[in-house]
Amino acid sequence: MSIQAVQNKVHAFYHNRMVQDWRGKHLIRGGIPDKHAIQLVSNDYLDIANHPAIREAQRDALLHTENSMMMSAVFLQEGNPQAELEDRFAEYLLAESVILCQSGYSANTGLIQTLVQDTTIPVYIDMLAHMSLWDGVLLGGAKAYAFRHNDIEHLLSQIKKFGPGLVVVDSVYSTNGSVCPLRELVEAISNTECILLVDESHSLGTHGPEGRGMVADLNLTDKVTFRTASLAKAFSGRAGLITCSREFTEYFKFTSKPTIFSSSLLPHEIAGLKKTMQLIKAADERRSLLRYHSAHIREQLIKLGYNLNDSQSQIVSLESGSEWNTIQLRDALEKRGIFGSIFAAPATPKNRALVRLSLNAGLSELQIQRIVKVCRDIRDEIKLDEWPSTRRLARTQRAAHAMAS
Ligand SMILES: Cc1ncc(COP(=O)(O)O)c(C=O)c1O
Repeated sequence: MSIQAVQNKVHAFYHNRMVQDWRGKHLIRGGIPDKHAIQLVSNDYLDIANHPAIREAQRDALLHTENSMMMSAVFLQEGNPQAELEDRFAEYLLAESVILCQSGYSANTGLIQTLVQDTTIPVYIDMLAHMSLWDGVLLGGAKAYAFRHNDIEHLLSQIKKFGPGLVVVDSVYSTNGSVCPLRELVEAISNTECILLVDESHSLGTHGPEGRGMVADLNLTDKVTFRTASLAKAFSGRAGLITCSREFTEYFKFTSKPTIFSSSLLPHEIAGLKKTMQLIKAADERRSLLRYHSAHIREQLIKLGYNLNDSQSQIVSLESGSEWNTIQLRDALEKRGIFGSIFAAPATPKNRALVRLSLNAGLSELQIQRIVKVCRDIRDEIKLDEWPSTRRLARTQRAAHAMAS
């Protein structure tokens, strides 16, 4: 590839996206929130990231622990703080073993790579699964067979064609907040000899007793071979994890490229996560508030005509379609003090861009009312009726009526 080819790609990006699609505005960088703004960008679902006890634990570790291990986790010896935290996570998650990674991204890519490389194992992956899971398939050089979102029949038909393999899903989907029908999925694949990997990034901390996640909540810990999670969501840290068997742990540490060729966690990150786990276990009230706020907002926005694409969680997305529509939606929300995060290609398919509202347990009743009011007030300004997602919903509803009558 020549320098010219790289320059062409960069220029095409500036021209096609920044100039043509965004019309001189920036897709992601909108206004600056003031102190009255309602921030719905962060995935700190339990509103715990700034808890003084976590900051104190991190500060103490920074002050009193040496950063001795600037190296890959493969060199960690028995009894080190990272291994100790892995044992605590294993106990908490009712798993035989847990491996901590540098991020959710490295947990997912590294895990799938170790499972599929040098094999012909097919990977069945939900179309909306997180990009890190897709990248794991690439890293392992396997073949991915996408199945329609949450469509178990489609998954089964793929398995019938291509044989048993690795089934990959998210418990809660990060772009639209829809939830995997895990119980039905487990039941459906129980006779197929497939193994199941569930990414619990958006359910760990928020779902299940003591926040152990959706798999534990549904009593499926012995049916799901691998759970992964980013700890940069409800756990508000910087790490990722994998649940697995004890035997798998050593194999992983000697085969997972992202783990071998990148350094281990730092002492203050470990100390922060240890404290966060304690707080999250005791956070039932925050979890109930989060559920309550989320259900209320979803119900109200559906009444207002928004297509929430089956959100059943704290992630509520307004799917505006084109990037230009999304800039207009973003501006309309921000003008009224509501800040969400913009998702566009490659995080969504082209022309299915959206503004994601990540709800959290710290929102007050007044703020919830304000979010709903703003979403009501902006409908004409953002031309909600003309959004492809609104029309899609109308078509589905018409088809359902026709079927029923
Ligand atoms: C479902 C899911 N898995 C994995 C990741 C990656 O997590 P991290 O930010 O810790 O790399 C994310 C974060 O975007 C996610 O939403």
